[in-house]
Amino acid sequence: MEPRPLALVTGVSRGPGIAAAVARRLAANGWDLALTGWRPYDAGMAWGRHDDELDDLLLGLAEAGSAVRYFDADLADPDSAVELYDSAARELGRAPLALALVHTHDTGGGLLEVTAADFDHHLAVNARATLLLAAEHARRFPGPAGRGRIVTFVSGLPLRGSVAYAASKGAIHWMTVSIAAELAGRGITVNAVNPGPTDTGWMSPPIRQRIRSESPLGRLGRPEDAAELVAWLCSEAGGWITGQVLTSDGGWSALR
Ligand SMILES: NC(=O)c1ccc[n+]([C@@H]2O[C@H](COP(=O)([O-])OP(=O)(O)OC[C@H]3O[C@@H](n4cnc5c(N)ncnc54)[C@H](OP(=O)(O)O)[C@@H]3O)[C@@H](O)[C@H]2O)c1
Repeated sequence: MEPRPLALVTGVSRGPGIAAAVARRLAANGWDLALTGWRPYDAGMAWGRHDDELDDLLLGLAEAGSAVRYFDADLADPDSAVELYDSAARELGRAPLALALVHTHDTGGGLLEVTAADFDHHLAVNARATLLLAAEHARRFPGPAGRGRIVTFVSGLPLRGSVAYAASKGAIHWMTVSIAAELAGRGITVNAVNPGPTDTGWMSPPIRQRIRSESPLGRLGRPEDAAELVAWLCSEAGGWITGQVLTSDGGWSALR
């Protein structure tokens, strides 16, 4: 019998985050999952660290029939990509077909506030880790050609007040297309998702209200909206798209 397909998903441990929704959607579609997150990041954010949310997520995924392993890993560490693929191989017995790079570091900071250290850290976690994980994914991709998948996450512009985050997302955008060109011959598609404003815990009540009232479709983005697209890109049906940035934002960027 064919083994179930395996995906590695980054940025998982917060229940309301997009990565958790991606994991739930992939599990529902029959995937086994290697999941990774870095809970100390959440501890420093407005929403705080909630280990119970991760426990609930892992339980729900196992109940859905997935073999699941979770690994804490700081993606600022350049060794973390190799270590994660080693851990997945050891614990789940095979290399992933799909890599969903959902994690992000965004501690804000506009042009006049951002420090050199802030800039480097955003680039290390967001852009460099994307590069190193994509390279490790390609090295270990087990085949068959045509079933390999990498999905990255970018953001709409302008990102006023988050200039280092903006630089890192710009790097991910251009890397996505360039990596797609390199990996097409190996049968691995590479695409980016721009999810638009999505209610994952960062919005204050006034921001939530403003986005809802300006949204062409009259609601906020939900983590499940982006997760549906990621799961489809990872499916066999999604195999004819590569090198694209897919905007899934309810018309936010095009129609306002
Ligand atoms: N939400 C939006 O409105 C929006 C809009 C445009 C683009 N996006 C993009 O969509 C993606 C998901 O958004 P989201 O709102 O769900 O993100 P999020 O809640 O901010 O979650 C990102 C996760 O990245 C992980 N992370 C942070 N630093 C890390 C590090 N050093 N090493 C490893 N992991 C680290 C953390 O995982 P843990 O939870 O495990 O700590 C964090 O919760 C991101 O790439 C974001 O840029 C989101």
